[in-house]
Amino acid sequence: MILDTRASIIAVAYIVAAVLLIFGLRKLSSPATARNGNLLAAAGVFLALAITLLDRSIVSYWELALGIVIGGGIGIVAARKVQMTAMPQMVGLLNGLGGGTAALVSLSEYLRLSMAATVRGGEAVSVVLGTAIGSVSFTGSIVAFAKLQELLSSKPFQFPLQRAVNALLLVVILTLGATMVVGGDTATTPWIVFAVALALGALLVLPIGGGDMPVVIATLNALTGIAAAFTGLVLHNQILVVAGILVGASGTLLTLLMGKAMNRSLGNVFFGGFGATAAVAVGAPVAVAKTVRQTSAEDTAIALAYARKVVIVPGYGLAVAEGQHAVRELAQELEKRGVDVKFAIHPVAGRMPGHMNVLLAEANIPYDELVEMDQINGDFDSTDVVLVVGANDVVNPAARDDPASPIYGMPILDVDKARNVIVLKRSMGAGFAGIDNALFYRDRTRMLFGDAKKSLTSLVEALKAV
Ligand code: TAP
Repeated sequence: MILDTRASIIAVAYIVAAVLLIFGLRKLSSPATARNGNLLAAAGVFLALAITLLDRSIVSYWELALGIVIGGGIGIVAARKVQMTAMPQMVGLLNGLGGGTAALVSLSEYLRLSMAATVRGGEAVSVVLGTAIGSVSFTGSIVAFAKLQELLSSKPFQFPLQRAVNALLLVVILTLGATMVVGGDTATTPWIVFAVALALGALLVLPIGGGDMPVVIATLNALTGIAAAFTGLVLHNQILVVAGILVGASGTLLTLLMGKAMNRSLGNVFFGGFGATAAVAVGAPVAVAKTVRQTSAEDTAIALAYARKVVIVPGYGLAVAEGQHAVRELAQELEKRGVDVKFAIHPVAGRMPGHMNVLLAEANIPYDELVEMDQINGDFDSTDVVLVVGANDVVNPAARDDPASPIYGMPILDVDKARNVIVLKRSMGAGFAGIDNALFYRDRTRMLFGDAKKSLTSLVEALKAV
């Protein structure tokens, strides 16, 4: 009777945790509700963890408390210290740890179960997939982290017969995995699957250029979710299955959305070598033989002050300059003068999904001023001034007009259709794709060179004096 009640409480708590996770994810789809979504999902994870730890006496509570203090402490310090622009590698690292954990738990559960009886069928399938996918995600994410953190060169690392070697490793994993499912495995088989999958993860990501890492990390994120779901099956833990499937599904959707917004297929990311060109050329100065028209903060302030409609396009450079508060001040100053100000958000502006939304939200810029690409593109021809702040590729008309361009087909913000375009950046340097931008040479474009934060601060001062 007591056991029944306990089991019911646990089952209900898991359902509540799953509902919290689903609603949390739902709320993450809009910047206005994302903060609450995060809190809801965190509450769901906390509930799931608390119930699991109370339910299963795996290790002593002292050991658990020690783990929580050490892990939680590292998490708090890392989350507070990490720069917004370094978020992709932080996510990569955390994701890798998730994958590695799923692999180790699957493996150890197999070893534990096989001491008591033969593990076959569905359970063995889950163990093999949990171990293999989790291990691939672990080393893949660690390589992605190291490339983004510049601990490893961001250039693609290639060697002859790379794909053949990867295919061979995959065949080894599948063959040994099959022997674990049908019988015929030895004590070392799960360890070999584990080791070969670790090697495969690293070898899959090493040939990809640093520039493609955010997409790779989203894919690995999906793999970690799937590995966790298989681990949940092995452990007969429903909440782990639900949470794993949610992570797997959202990681897959994110990968597809990012691919679409960059006009890249997954095959192209993993085997196309675009990252190769991008990684080599990033930041390289572009040889200029065309006319570039420069402007000053004072002239820009006058153009802005007399405009009716201004659209601000934030990009990666705004995040680097940490100019989000300065851009909010500028928008407020313009609104005081009755100017209609909107922010145009490109889905892959910056270096991670939602980068610009998070950046602008940090400066308390109202969400209703943030307009997505598809909604704002029709408005540019009636816009008096577009202020491009540290954005480059996402406003490059070559993506729309030049079939020879490496970014041809990537959807862009059509800022070149506006009456005036003012670009705030430090130099004529290229953006992420490493290519020149014809927008900078157009008659209606003026360049305001300098660090974005400094330029924005000067603009606010100049505007106050107009
Ligand atoms: P980018 O094309 O990368 O251009 C950023 C520009 O910011 C650079 O041209 C740079 O020019 C300027 N900049 C850098 N530091 C600055 C500073 N302190 N002050 C002023 N300007 C500064 O950025 P974007 O337009 O946001 O495009 C994003 C790119 O990243 C796209 O190609 C996208 O495909 C790629 N990408 C995005 C994601 C996601 S999910 N967001 C993931 C992977 C790849 P200067 O050096 O001359 O200043």
